[in-house]
Amino acid sequence: MTKKPSEKSSGASKDPTRRRKVASGAGVPSAVAAKARPTTSDMVSVSLVVNNVHHSLALDPRTTLLDLLREHLDLTGTKKGCDQGQCGACTVLVDGRRINSCLTFAAMYDGAQITTIEGLARNGALHPLQQAFIDHDAFQCGYCTPGQICSAVGLLAEGRAKTADEIRELMSGNICRCGAYTNIVAAIQQAMGQS
Ligand code: FES
Ligand code: FES
Repeated sequence: MTKKPSEKSSGASKDPTRRRKVASGAGVPSAVAAKARPTTSDMVSVSLVVNNVHHSLALDPRTTLLDLLREHLDLTGTKKGCDQGQCGACTVLVDGRRINSCLTFAAMYDGAQITTIEGLARNGALHPLQQAFIDHDAFQCGYCTPGQICSAVGLLAEGRAKTADEIRELMSGNICRCGAYTNIVAAIQQAMGQS
């Protein structure tokens, strides 16, 4: 007998997707789940300045800097790509130095100054690199762009890149799946005053 559409849909709701099962913790033995959740005494206090705003938080010590920004502070401009240190989408500046925020624990940066893509503009004016990315159409989907721009800000501060080849080499940790590399290099050159 052929199933009516209504029977199909009610069957689907009784059989949750894998994503829902994982989110609900189904299948995880309760003793394991309880151990995985930090108790209040396991939490660590972290105090840092993000985009010139001071934050004091109690965190699970396993919280990455990326998750602190996105999940605790709602600064979702910084993107999670690979979550393994291989794509650069999560690049932010810590005390002016560019790092992959997915690879590092927030608790390591107590007292640090963090700058994300949301903190680059000043008094309503875009950072020169943000403007240069627009001028050179240096993105397509835009997913990698916050990381590219923060990384480029760090690159300029380092002062090591003088040529297009050196820009390419020193930006090689930032992957663009849309392949906007030519325009990204041109944008960085503009911000360096080379075009
Ligand atoms: S998300 Fe951090 S390097 Fe890919
Ligand atoms: S613009 Fe799409 S990944 Fe870079």
